[in-house]
Amino acid sequence: MDLGLNGRVAVVCASSHGLGRACATELARAGCTVVVNGRNDEALRQTAEEIRRETGGQVIPVAADISTSEGQDRLLGTVQEVDILVNNNGGPPFRDFRQIDDDALLAGVVMNMATPIHLVQKVVDGMMSRQFGRIVNITSASVKMPLPGLDLSSGARVGLTGFLAGVARSVAHANVTINFLLPGSFDTRRLRSGQEVIAANLGLTREAVAERDRQAIPARRFGDPAEFGAACAFLCSAQAGFITGQSILLDGGAFPGIL
Ligand SMILES: NC(=O)c1ccc[n+]([C@@H]2O[C@H](COP(=O)([O-])OP(=O)(O)OC[C@H]3O[C@@H](n4cnc5c(N)ncnc54)[C@H](OP(=O)(O)O)[C@@H]3O)[C@@H](O)[C@H]2O)c1
Repeated sequence: MDLGLNGRVAVVCASSHGLGRACATELARAGCTVVVNGRNDEALRQTAEEIRRETGGQVIPVAADISTSEGQDRLLGTVQEVDILVNNNGGPPFRDFRQIDDDALLAGVVMNMATPIHLVQKVVDGMMSRQFGRIVNITSASVKMPLPGLDLSSGARVGLTGFLAGVARSVAHANVTINFLLPGSFDTRRLRSGQEVIAANLGLTREAVAERDRQAIPARRFGDPAEFGAACAFLCSAQAGFITGQSILLDGGAFPGIL
């Protein structure tokens, strides 16, 4: 399927690994110039080179902490116009909610709510004036089905979803869409580090925890980041202009509700 994205410019935050990287790869494959980002410069450059080799696309690496205003401006400043913004960031560490002090609370809200909001503020008017914009926010299945120990992640991401729900309706007339992709368990660095924490707490191996978690998913497997990247690229496509304000779960059937 031709996604109608040839020549578009995409900024994909936090994309040197995992889900962000998969989104950047599929957007580059669809013909976009893609700005990729992470804090570790060496890993980022390697990722940029690998995506270039795999897709033949133009990939611009920008090492920066996306949670800072300076980092956001550096990312956006490498291109003239932004047609597609994929908001992504690290997530707060697993922690009992009793241990979250004021600093940790604010850091989590900055990471998963304030940062994507600031980025939307910085790009949305340009998108509206050009009558094309696609904004995809990577949140989490925990928005629908909270996970103990990830309470801050759930709370900040629900806040983001609520904040942007109204914004999405106010920009739709200019062919700018804002949607949310909610990953369940995808096989990434973050998933594996979470399994290590749980394994240490339970006195199990990481493999045993991974197997237990796999069996709890109706699909009996973890998601492949490439599946996530493909969904993101479709939401950014020319054909997806009538989808906005939606939270879309990708979780192998783990969420038990029907709506
Ligand atoms: N994987 C899952 O199953 C799953 C499920 C639910 C939600 N999520 C959420 O989805 C998001 C992506 O997760 P993932 O699994 O793809 O994680 P990952 O494989 O660990 O990748 C995270 C990426 O974010 C970058 N990053 C982190 N903090 C950053 C910052 N402040 N500024 C710029 N880049 C930053 C990392 O690079 P550097 O470390 O070099 O900065 C890396 O490229 C996270 O918010 C996570 O909580 C994931």
